[in-house]
Amino acid sequence: LSTTDVDLGPIPEGQAITVVWQGKPVFVRKRTAAEIKEAEDVPLASLRDPQTDQSRVKPGKDVWLVVIGICTHLGCVPGGNKPTENRGPFGGWFCPCHGSAYDTSGRIRQGPAPLNLALPPYEFQSDTSIRIG
Ligand code: FES
Repeated sequence: LSTTDVDLGPIPEGQAITVVWQGKPVFVRKRTAAEIKEAEDVPLASLRDPQTDQSRVKPGKDVWLVVIGICTHLGCVPGGNKPTENRGPFGGWFCPCHGSAYDTSGRIRQGPAPLNLALPPYEFQSDTSIRIG
């Protein structure tokens, strides 16, 4: 299948699920208000791969972050979907392979990875479902 439909209903706030799109893991995260604020408050100049949080989510839907779950260093799958996992010092995801840390916008903040977690193409089908691809 070239597209993957995701039901957002069961995803708890503060957590992400992994779905598969075109053979790749995609993280779909329901962010808390604090996580969104944290992402928005980061000065762009402090980012290795400068992108605003706003440019990484859909307008009016900033609760939802959808990123390809492949570390941009050498391709490991970072952990952190659940709050009980190691999310690293920036609260997003942490790649255990060589220690790259991503923030709550999926942007690279520390470690060897050069780029933010990539964004797959997706659209909202309704308030509670998206189609990736
Ligand atoms: Fe993630 Fe190297 S593959 S830090």
